This record gives sequence, C-alpha cells and structure tokens, in this order.
Amino acid sequence: MNVLGIETSCDETSVAIISDGKLKSNLISSQDFHNKYGGVVPELSSRAHLQMINPLLKSALEESNLKLYDIDLICATAGPGLIGALLVGLTFAKGLALSLNKPFVPVNHIEGHIFSGFLMEEKPEFPYLCLVVSGGHTLLLIVKNELEIIKLGTTIDDAAGEAFDKVAKMLGLGYPGGPAIQNAAEKGNENEINFPVAQLKTEYDFSFSGLKTAVLRYLQKEYDQKIESISQNDLNNISASFQKAAVDALMQNVKKALAHYDVKSLSLVGGVAANQKMRDSFKEVAEKNNLKLVIPDLQFCGDNAAMIAYRGYTLNKNGKKYGLDANAYPSLPEGTFIEPSNR
Ligand code: KG4
Ligand code: ZN
Repeated sequence: MNVLGIETSCDETSVAIISDGKLKSNLISSQDFHNKYGGVVPELSSRAHLQMINPLLKSALEESNLKLYDIDLICATAGPGLIGALLVGLTFAKGLALSLNKPFVPVNHIEGHIFSGFLMEEKPEFPYLCLVVSGGHTLLLIVKNELEIIKLGTTIDDAAGEAFDKVAKMLGLGYPGGPAIQNAAEKGNENEINFPVAQLKTEYDFSFSGLKTAVLRYLQKEYDQKIESISQNDLNNISASFQKAAVDALMQNVKKALAHYDVKSLSLVGGVAANQKMRDSFKEVAEKNNLKLVIPDLQFCGDNAAMIAYRGYTLNKNGKKYGLDANAYPSLPEGTFIEPSNR
C-alpha cells in the first residue's frame, strides 16, 4: 500500500510517501524567511505552502519511483495549526483523493508526532510512555495501542518549544530559538545560574512561564535588559542554565510517571526532541529503567509528512473511514486523548 502524506500546519511544507509502512520519500521545505520577522507570519506561510506543494509532490513521486495513480491512500494534517496553512495541504489532499478516487484520512498533527517513532528501524513497543515536546504542545502520554492514548499531563501555560523560542528572543538569538539556545548552551556552564523548576500540585503537568519570567528578571537585574551589553560567554551561560532548568522540568515528570506506570518503552517526539540534552537525558533514564528507547531521527522530530502518512496508514489499517468534509482545526480537539479520570 502506497500512502501519500502532506503536512502544512506551520512553517514546513512537507510531502512524504510510505509503502507498507516503510519510508520511500520525506521531503521538507522549511520557510526560513520567517526568521527576519522573529516568528511565523501566517499569511506568508500559506502562500509559500501553495508554491511548494506541487513541486514537492512531483519530487516525492520521482524519488519513490511511483506515479500519482500508484497512490492508494492520501493523508493530510487537519490540525492543530495555522488555519490558512492547514487549508492549503488539506484542500490539496482532498482534491487529489477526489480526482484519483482514493480514500482520504485527515490526520491530527500531534498524533503524527506521537507515532513518529515507528518510522525508525527499532520501533516502540506498546504500552509506551511518550513525551511530546513541540512549539505549541507539551504532553506526557501513555500510548496503549494505535487507538488508545492516555493523557497524564500537559502544560498549564507555555509549551516547551515556545519557552525556548521566547527565551532565545529575549537573548537576541533569533527564531527558531531551540537550535540557537542549544548551540549557545553547548559552550556555556549550565550551573552558572540557578533558574527555577516549577513544582505543580498536579502530578504530571508542566509550567514554563515562571522559568521564562525568571530569565527576564535576571536580564533586567544584571544587564538592565540591554542585551547588546551581554558578553558571548554570559549568553552561553544563560542559555545553558535555562536549557538545564527546562530539561529538568520535563524529566522530573517523566521519572515520576515511570515510577508509577508499567510500560515497555519510552519515546521522545516533537521539535524539541532534536535537543541533544533532552536526548541524552532520555537515554540515561531508559538505561536506568531498563526500557527500550525510541527517539526519532532529526528528520522526523520537526514537522514532517512521513509521520502524517504513517499515522494515516495506521488509522486506515484500523478500519477508520473519513469523508471529504473533514475540516481544518486550530487547536487540539477535546477527547483526542483519554483523560486519566476516565480510564
Ligand atoms: O514539532 P515542531 O517542529 O513544530 C510544532 O509542531 O510546533 O517543533 C518546533 C519547536 C520550536 O519551538 C523549536 O524552537 C523547537 O521545536 N526546537 C528545539 C530544537 N530544535 C527545534 N528546541 C530545543 N532544542 C533544539 N535543538
Ligand atoms: Zn509539530
């Protein structure tokens, strides 16, 4: 079965093809021009998706040695994301499905991330503990099988990636902030400044706004917020100390969950899964708990269509059917995950 995946939820246009669950092509065009605006400009993003989607489809088919009529299933991200951007990929995919008379699957972007570990040679084993860390979402989940996912916790304010992006902006490191912070942090001393790790009443939730404010207060106090006066060495130390606090906050809940739940594997997914300190921390925890660890390759951490194709493929395999009336949605729909109280 040849499955086409299309992803246009934010600032990456991506087209992928998987055959019987195996990757044939995963093409990603990143819209780097948003950098100069310090964040994603939705209207520009939609236009760029429109320009890129056709050439990417053509290249993906060529790379996979397939023709358009060889495609058996068409999947596209329906949400969460920027509505205008989502509509480009979703409408394109529906049009293809209609003209080729092939089934169409609207895919939840976060579910795409959750199952992205299955694009690896070594796959997660159910049930697995999964931490989703992206630009818009932070979720700690137990993935019981392809259709049942229990939500243990989420962020009560900013997402992990958002915290990296906002702190990078304060430090004048540009957008996206994650890679810039990691780069600076690699040269810094993470024990230089003691930034706080939030302690919440709810067991598995996260909070990053206090950490973000702590960095801001530190900059106000030490430098009167004049970032041009901060030396490169200080920038490196602040980045490293912030990164340590952010990673500690995430790992604290992962460790708590592992002490309570019996799982077979551990998976780290989403854009922030590209972070080396996160990857190293997961490795350490997996070894300590004797668990199989699956962290996707970098091409499957950030937004990509391979994970959308894979998720659509599993839904289709499970007998799920969808009409062409599926709509785009900006945020995570209620009921996407099982709340712990309803288990
Ligand atoms: O999953 P993703 O590509 O898009 C969303 O679905 O949001 O995640 C993007 C996020 C951004 O906040 C970006 O700064 C962050 O992932 N990110 C990183 C790294 N690479 C990307 N954060 C920390 N360290 C990195 N190396
Ligand atoms: Zn994403």
